[in-house]
Amino acid sequence: MRQGTSDDYFDWRPATTDDIPVVRRVAAETWWQCYRGMISDGQIRYMLDWMYAPELLRRELQGLVNWLLLVRRVDRAVAGFAAWAPHDGAAARLHKLYVHPDHQRRGGAMLLLEAVTRQVTHAGHSALTLTVNRSNDEALAFYRRAGFVCQGQQCKEIGGGFVMDDYVMALSLEQAAGPATDRKSG
Ligand SMILES: CC(C)(COP(=O)(O)OP(=O)(O)OC[C@H]1O[C@@H](n2cnc3c(N)ncnc32)[C@H](O)[C@@H]1OP(=O)(O)O)[C@@H](O)C(=O)NCCC(=O)NCCS
Repeated sequence: MRQGTSDDYFDWRPATTDDIPVVRRVAAETWWQCYRGMISDGQIRYMLDWMYAPELLRRELQGLVNWLLLVRRVDRAVAGFAAWAPHDGAAARLHKLYVHPDHQRRGGAMLLLEAVTRQVTHAGHSALTLTVNRSNDEALAFYRRAGFVCQGQQCKEIGGGFVMDDYVMALSLEQAAGPATDRKSG
């Protein structure tokens, strides 16, 4: 049940290398609850080990990737995260957007996305792109609601005998100051 608006319930802050353990925990709990059945258990393990390896997270946090943490206002507990980086010319790429299952459908992802689009626009990019699993109906519903449109699809080998079978989506930032949402942006 939604309690108040996302602005009442959540806040966000930049992540630091001190947050690596909590990012890994939130990622693992979210992946196992949300992706089981969508991709194999073996692929979940493989991708978690690869994408959330402490050394990789450390390099990202100290490099060009911008990490944002979603925190509950009441106790500052981490409830989700987003990560973006410059990508292709004018476009930035949203690499990660995760909200822990205990905290979904409270506007947390929209709050994070609004913060990301402000940063991306401020950095001079005119579009935000992402890839999302073609079977990820919840995320697809979220991204469409936020104003992303599908640009195509890609099937990419990621090693270990696994593939990522994704849609490529894009949000134009040229007209809007942020994602298409009826919520007040902070
Ligand atoms: C997709 C995800 C990030 C959405 O996070 P969230 O905090 O629950 O999303 P919000 O509360 O901000 O949702 C905003 C709107 O998006 C849409 N939406 C979000 N989740 C939805 C769902 N499960 N089904 C249908 N629509 C959904 C709704 O329109 C929602 O507004 P409403 O709650 O007023 O109806 C979250 O479900 C998640 O972390 N999933 C697992 C990880 C994942 O797939 N990430 C994307 C990787 S590409």
